[in-house]
Amino acid sequence: MSTIDAPAPTEWPADLDLGAREFWAQPFAEREKAFARLRRDHPVSFHRAYESSLLPPGEDAVGFWAVTKWADCKQVSRDVDTFVSGKGVLMEDMPEVVTLATTSFLAMDGPEHRQVRGIVSQAFTPRNVRKMDGWIDGEAKKLVDEIIGLGEGDIVDLYAKMLPGRIFAFFFGVDAGSEDMHTIMEAAERMLAWDDPNCALGRDALTTFAEEADRIQEIAMKRADWYRENPEENLVSWVVNAKFEDRVLDDWEIAAFFSLLGSAANDTTRHSIGHAFRLFHENPDQLALLKEDMEGRLDGAVEEILRFVSPVQHFRRTAVKDGVIGDQEIKAGDKIVMWYCSGNYDEDVFEDPQRFDILRTPNKHLGFGAGGPHFCIGSALGRQMIKATLREVYTRMPDLHLTAEPELQVNNFINGIHAAQAAWTPAS
Ligand code: HEM
Repeated sequence: MSTIDAPAPTEWPADLDLGAREFWAQPFAEREKAFARLRRDHPVSFHRAYESSLLPPGEDAVGFWAVTKWADCKQVSRDVDTFVSGKGVLMEDMPEVVTLATTSFLAMDGPEHRQVRGIVSQAFTPRNVRKMDGWIDGEAKKLVDEIIGLGEGDIVDLYAKMLPGRIFAFFFGVDAGSEDMHTIMEAAERMLAWDDPNCALGRDALTTFAEEADRIQEIAMKRADWYRENPEENLVSWVVNAKFEDRVLDDWEIAAFFSLLGSAANDTTRHSIGHAFRLFHENPDQLALLKEDMEGRLDGAVEEILRFVSPVQHFRRTAVKDGVIGDQEIKAGDKIVMWYCSGNYDEDVFEDPQRFDILRTPNKHLGFGAGGPHFCIGSALGRQMIKATLREVYTRMPDLHLTAEPELQVNNFINGIHAAQAAWTPAS
């Protein structure tokens, strides 16, 4: 791998400097103005290494190519012979041991990825997915039963984080309301928000990430041992007992998979739901359209939320041979970051992209990635959680609205929403 030919970092003005922490402290809409300029003037541009708090870049740190167009994200994501995941999937570098312990097959390539993903996929049979859909619909109803009488509160805390959190607890087979459930939910949130003071709690970023991942892994391992002997109806048990090409997952692979799910299944969905409440508050015309034909428009609303929010803002690949993205030549060893949050607003693909439009069709967003072998394995479950939420909440709490500016997370990876005070007419 050669990095010596990598371009010298371009001096970007502050408002286009993706390597600056300050850039990521701005609201999404401000950042999108910068991405719009990059898409127009510099669709593939080189940036200095991110001012990371996970693994602060050294003097000689090499930057990354920012890919901002929808079609270029697709090209990178699908060309797995040139662009690999095994050398890191985040814009920020992490120590290799942490990557190994927490990213599972997300950061694998080729036959190894195919095999581990193949084992996990065995757990997602149509029968098991129907079962999980049943948990989701049931929990969405229960949660609304629990909060509808309150009339006000932080809707992120009361609902958006609770639904995926409880489903995640069901994945482990732990009881709703149990201490293990709270540990799993809390750890999953903090693990991915290492830059956010509410989640880091005075720890440095790497310690936050590693300690919180460890809390999830400990519970997963305890459960895995039990389910090997006593299979039950939950995701840990299905995964532990799944076989593909005569191979099962070993202990560390199970632990890594469940840390990955902490972010992949839990955090992504939670923030999609939190932002959905914000978006329907800010766009009452779209809420009216949804209520007018709830069943007919639910699917479109879910897709538009995923596009507009881009819950996962980027994933990275590394080139293992020289190649070309758009008009830009790149070299083996270069880091390539696909900005899904930019591709989802690409004017060449989405008409009037700044408009939140639940009737948008087609809507080929990059919310679950840009295609290829890493495409989100839980996309159907993620969609189902958002759909069940919109149906239950806006049928039974139709006047739900925010009463204060929501608190957003500072994060270059997940588009996170920390809190959103809301009110609705209480009912029994
Ligand atoms: C709204 C919710 C969700 C969003 C926005 C989301 C987004 C993503 C994205 C962008 C990727 C990377 C795709 C790529 O690199 O090509 C991904 C991968 C993944 N997702 Fe999701 N996801 C969500 C829900 C879920 C759920 C509910 C699960 C599990 C039940 C899940 C499990 C995974 C796994 C295991 C991967 C790694 C796949 C691989 O590397 O082969 N996700 N997701």
